[in-house]
Amino acid sequence: MSEKVKVMLPEEEIDHRVRELGEQISQDYAGESVFLVCILKGASFFACDLAKRITVPVTIDFMATSSYGSGTVSSGEVKIKKDLDLPVAGRHVIIVEDIIDSGNTLHYLSNLFRDRNAKSVKLCALLDKADRREVDVPMDYIGFSVPDFFLVGYGLDYDQKYRNLPYIGIVDLD
Ligand code: IMP
Ligand code: MG
Repeated sequence: MSEKVKVMLPEEEIDHRVRELGEQISQDYAGESVFLVCILKGASFFACDLAKRITVPVTIDFMATSSYGSGTVSSGEVKIKKDLDLPVAGRHVIIVEDIIDSGNTLHYLSNLFRDRNAKSVKLCALLDKADRREVDVPMDYIGFSVPDFFLVGYGLDYDQKYRNLPYIGIVDLD
């Protein structure tokens, strides 16, 4: 099966917005350090670019949660496939996601890091599909609000494909 991908957010626009988010985070955490939790694999491109634009000291660690598998519909269930290597206790955590959709992943993870005694927990997602929210999750940093299309590129996949596209595009599944 072959799909077509239509550009929605070009590379330059993503880069510009990531710089703005980095500046905002640097201001908000002035005099502190931040612990970025990157949710694999989708957020990896975004988290690394974002980390480069943050001027306060940054620790970065990676975690993998259950994903959609090969379909495009959330199961609503969140499982940890790979946990962090580092402890979060006493740290200012920012969870970095590629996209918030139902909200299940970020809802689960923010509670998890509070239980692990993080000093604070904030949530950052490059993309926000607000129309699809099932759980109310207060977001701290959002790159772009996007409509309910299945999106790929810049880390986001469709069946493990297209993560390497430098832009974010809409998959035409027909
Ligand atoms: P949530 O738990 O429903 O908020 O789902 C978040 C996860 O679903 C993201 O980290 C993505 O891995 C995946 N996801 C949601 N929408 C899309 C999309 O349009 N393209 C690719 N992955 C998506
Ligand atoms: Mg993901």
